[in-house]
Amino acid sequence: MTAENIRPVLAGQKALVIGVANEDSIAYGCAKAFRTVGAELAITWLNEKARRRVEPLAQDLGASVTAALDVSVPGELEAVFDSIRAKWGRLDILVHSIAFAPKEDLQGGLLNCSAEGFAKAMDVSCHSFVRMAKLAAPLMTDGGTMFAMSYLGANRVVANYNVMGPVKAALEAACRYLAYELGPQRIRVHAISPGPLKTRAASGLKDFELMLNEAAQKAPLGELVDIMDVGFACAYLASPLAKRITGGTVYVDGGASAIA
Ligand SMILES: NC(=O)c1ccc[n+]([C@@H]2O[C@H](COP(=O)([O-])OP(=O)(O)OC[C@H]3O[C@@H](n4cnc5c(N)ncnc54)[C@H](O)[C@@H]3O)[C@@H](O)[C@H]2O)c1
Repeated sequence: MTAENIRPVLAGQKALVIGVANEDSIAYGCAKAFRTVGAELAITWLNEKARRRVEPLAQDLGASVTAALDVSVPGELEAVFDSIRAKWGRLDILVHSIAFAPKEDLQGGLLNCSAEGFAKAMDVSCHSFVRMAKLAAPLMTDGGTMFAMSYLGANRVVANYNVMGPVKAALEAACRYLAYELGPQRIRVHAISPGPLKTRAASGLKDFELMLNEAAQKAPLGELVDIMDVGFACAYLASPLAKRITGGTVYVDGGASAIA
């Protein structure tokens, strides 16, 4: 199937995608897939430095809302949702595709992770999703779908994933609880667990190339996933075709997680 003959299953839907750093970003794959099936986009960049790279991508995708967003800066998240309320008056899809841990805390093993580093990783990579969900839910007046990017290291020990393991475990649990709390408003919440992808965030992990090789070898489908695989999985889950699916972790990994 080519992009041209995919049906516009998200026509008329409004999607906020957080986490585009460049064209390798998983968030970019989500934005591009949503656009391909008809959604309108809001895209954020971390700061002025990131803007140079992200703004042209947002323009290419015809994003109608763009804004700076560092979830650690008080007020910026609220400002993004104010812009969305002013422009669209509602929201259908939210993607949280961001993660951060200070390098020394990420690379030194869990035992050596400082309390500050742990708290920072948890705040940016997990609690910010809860804050976003709280702001997004009132705008999802006709139901909606929320996504947060996780990784297999949430449920199994993946060498070198370190503090991000417990942080992603918390993120997946947060998705379940949010799915429970928001279900009555017909808002569905998914953790998405992609196989390893060569992105800027992944470059902070020690021996990442080994993870890539192992994932390709293990996957029953025999190859690595790409960002469009993740994007189209999210597009499907956001569409009415998946209206009774919520609260789970959806693996987009060629089946690698099924193999011991
Ligand atoms: N690359 C992989 O192998 C892989 C696999 C599974 C899950 N993930 C997850 O996917 C998500 C996206 O990562 P990616 O691999 O696309 O890398 P990426 O570097 O392209 O994206 C990470 C994003 O996080 C943003 N970010 C960091 N701190 C932030 C803050 N304080 N406020 C707002 N944004 C902030 C960055 O600006 C960047 O856009 C992350 O949650 C990551 O853990 C990645």
